[in-house]
Amino acid sequence: MCGIIARAGIGDALEELVVGLQNLEYRGYDSAGVAVRRADGPITVCKREGETDALEAALSGRALPGGTGIGHTRWSTHGAPSDANAHPHTDDSGRVAVVHNGIIRNHESLRRELREAGHRFRSETDTEVVPHLVAAALDDGADPESAFRAAVARLEGSYALAMIVDEDDAVYATRRGSPLVLGLGTDANYLASDVPAFLEFTDRVVYLEDDDVVVLEGNTYRITDVDGTPVDRPIETVEWDASDARKGVYNHFMRKEIDEQPVSLRQTLEGRIDGDRSELTAFPPGSLSDVDDVVFVACGTSYHAAMYGSTLLRRRGVPATALRANEFAHDPMPVSERTLVIAVTQSGETADTLASLRVANDLSARTLAVTNVVGSSAARGADEALFIRAGPEIGVAATKTFSSQVAALALLADRIAADGGGADAYGDETAGVGDHGGAYDPDSVRSDLESLPTAVETVVNDAGAARLATQFADAESYFFIGRGVGYPVALEGALKFKEITYEHAEGFAAGELKHGPLALVTPATVVIAVFTGRNDELTLHNVREAQSRGAPVVGVGPASATTLRETVDEYLPFPRTDPNLAGIPANVHLQLLAYHAAEIRDRAIDKPRNLAKSVTVE
Ligand code: F6R
Repeated sequence: MCGIIARAGIGDALEELVVGLQNLEYRGYDSAGVAVRRADGPITVCKREGETDALEAALSGRALPGGTGIGHTRWSTHGAPSDANAHPHTDDSGRVAVVHNGIIRNHESLRRELREAGHRFRSETDTEVVPHLVAAALDDGADPESAFRAAVARLEGSYALAMIVDEDDAVYATRRGSPLVLGLGTDANYLASDVPAFLEFTDRVVYLEDDDVVVLEGNTYRITDVDGTPVDRPIETVEWDASDARKGVYNHFMRKEIDEQPVSLRQTLEGRIDGDRSELTAFPPGSLSDVDDVVFVACGTSYHAAMYGSTLLRRRGVPATALRANEFAHDPMPVSERTLVIAVTQSGETADTLASLRVANDLSARTLAVTNVVGSSAARGADEALFIRAGPEIGVAATKTFSSQVAALALLADRIAADGGGADAYGDETAGVGDHGGAYDPDSVRSDLESLPTAVETVVNDAGAARLATQFADAESYFFIGRGVGYPVALEGALKFKEITYEHAEGFAAGELKHGPLALVTPATVVIAVFTGRNDELTLHNVREAQSRGAPVVGVGPASATTLRETVDEYLPFPRTDPNLAGIPANVHLQLLAYHAAEIRDRAIDKPRNLAKSVTVE
């Protein structure tokens, strides 16, 4: 949410800054802007409300020579989207230009103080205080680096900041609570909110810590702590490929990422299953034997994956709960040193989730981040990390990372249960009307995890969701229901549907429908029922309740479940898989349903209204 990019080095900066902004647009698209220090001295700023296209149009035909510059793509927090509120922000004289991601909590008092000292403000943003603070320090005789440090010392809140100053060749940057990563190229170095920003220029990165101050000058860089003492941060090579972060032949990243799931799932699972056990390098057998209970914290799609994981653990007899990170952070449940708190987060930078991790650390729980991003704040802030290895996800709506999160959590659940000896909680008495029984058979789960990429491939190639998106395009509401692991999938299906179609969509536990939501069901409500092969006959009761009120029902379930097919009005089948994993292929159908429904409505699928990826504010 808000993307920043900075570049210093040989050759001109502008083109690379714009590429960086295009690559970061998933973090915000309310406005975009750049500031380049011209080779002969002054700073030129160009910024526009709207997507980076508007900025590019404003820049077209303009020569902005100079190797040093900063750029920003905005998701508004303080002040509406507008040219004036777009970053970079400058001081009165235009000597100092700053881009910022985060929230400066004490901006109002700083603004008052600066106004009284004669500074004039042109935007409603919290960020604008920074260039004015720097300018004030420069006026007092400080050099640019000292002025930057003095300004940062006044700030409260979260920030990743990058600054350039007139007649100075350097970029100055720092972070606290918002992501910032350094990219080391040959002719130039980069700073950005996220690696994909500069991945086409370099894969050598340095993950910065809170309060690091970085100075890029020519093609050299320097990292110091808040007192100016040099700090040594390791250089790492990112395994992601630059082409992974491009759309290629696709119209939308979301569709590309849906289609990538057979591959991303294979990456998640590779080398992690060995016959009768899950092999997680970070968690050898016995390493989780002191875990008594598990608490998941996460937001959005990751929360749904966490719910899924907690259900699997409970089925293995391990007490487990999933809580929304924005709730846990302020109302934590009791945990002990023997509680494993698992933060599930694709980006590893979600502020709510990081706040929960801090609380769990403070409460002395053992903490683990399950994340897609190596070097992310979550990976570094937790005691341990498990990487889902899904590759970069650019579409704002999370897709492939949900599948990989669930697969990784299934492996982890297996390891925790094996270490803790969790007894299967449910026996095999709950056989469904599908072709599967209801037991949790760890061997079956492991072996079906291995064939999951192939099952998902079948779903990705199925045209059923596209057809149904058209057939039900005129519905007033879309209700998603499921039970067991089908419940988080129903919630996820509804989330995906509402966020990219802007239609009314809700997810419910199937058994809950009759306790209230059924009042809303009419012939204009499409009910999408998720079946997993476990307790399906109960969900069928709920389906019939909806059908009696005239609602058409779409079933998503195992291909061979004939009773289900015959009862529902439409059916989206997936190949036989263990009921504990069936939510993954079912969810791929729901992703496709949302995608096609959004396409029919001509929505901005990769940049849904009011949303952005990686929510770095609480
Ligand atoms: C929905 C979506 C969001 C994220 C949520 C958490 O499609 O992408 O709901 O899942 O903001 O993000 P991470 O997983 O990065 O912590």
